[in-house]
Amino acid sequence: MLVFAHRGASGHEPENTLLAIKQALAMQVDAIEVDVHLSDGELIVIHDRWVNKTTNGQGKINKLSFKEIRELDAGKGQQVPTLEEVLATINGRCHLNIELKADQTVLPVLDLIDEAIIKYNFSYNQFLFSSFNHHLLFEIKSIKPELNIGALTASCPLTYAEFAQHLNAYSVHINIDFINQKFVNDAHQRGLKVFVYTVDDEDDISEMHYLGVDGIFTNYPTKSLVKIAHLN
Ligand code: G3P
Ligand code: MG
Repeated sequence: MLVFAHRGASGHEPENTLLAIKQALAMQVDAIEVDVHLSDGELIVIHDRWVNKTTNGQGKINKLSFKEIRELDAGKGQQVPTLEEVLATINGRCHLNIELKADQTVLPVLDLIDEAIIKYNFSYNQFLFSSFNHHLLFEIKSIKPELNIGALTASCPLTYAEFAQHLNAYSVHINIDFINQKFVNDAHQRGLKVFVYTVDDEDDISEMHYLGVDGIFTNYPTKSLVKIAHLN
C-alpha cells in the first residue's frame, strides 16, 4: 500500500505548509497530497475557501488579495505556500497529488507543471491530479491525456467506480466511511487503483490492507509506514 502524506505530514506540522512538506519528505513517503486554490491568479496551497481555520486571518480567499494571504500565519510562522514553492521544495523527490479545490485552476496548474519538469526535477508521471469537481479532471484529460487523474468521491455510488473509469482516471479516491470490498473489486476490475482517505488509525490501516486497497492518505506517515511494514 502506498502512503500519501495528507496535506503534507499534517499530523506533525501545520497542514499544507512547507514545514509539513519537509516533514513528509523526511519520513520518506511515497507521495504528498496538497489542496490548491487560486488567489489573484496565483496557485496557493490551502484547504478551505476561507482562511479562518488554518491561519490567523479571516475571510474568503477570493475576497483577499494574494499579498494579504501571504501576510497571514498558517501555523509556526509559516506562510500559505504557493504551489510553485511546494514543487521547489519537493524537487522531484516523491510523487505529488495535486487536489484542485477551485475553478479556473486547470490551465495555470498545467503551465506550472510544464515549468516544474524543467526547473524542479519532476517527470510527468510523478503527478496525480485529483478533484471532487470531475469537470476539472475531464478538462485536464482533454488537454493532456498522458497525465494521471484521480477521481475523488465522498460516497459509494450505485455504479461503484464506473464514474472514474468513464473519466479515464488512473485511480479512484474514496472516503474511508464508504469503502467496502465490492467497491475495491469493482474498481480493480475496471483497471483503477483505489486510494482511501483519511486513514490514521492502526485498525483501519489493517482493514485497508485486507481489502486490498492500493494506497492511503494519512496525516501520520511514519506510524502508517511502520504499521504497513508489519502487515506485509
Ligand atoms: O485527497 C484526499 C482528501 O484530501 C480529500 O478530502 O477534504 O481532505 O481535501 P479533503
Ligand atoms: Mg485534500
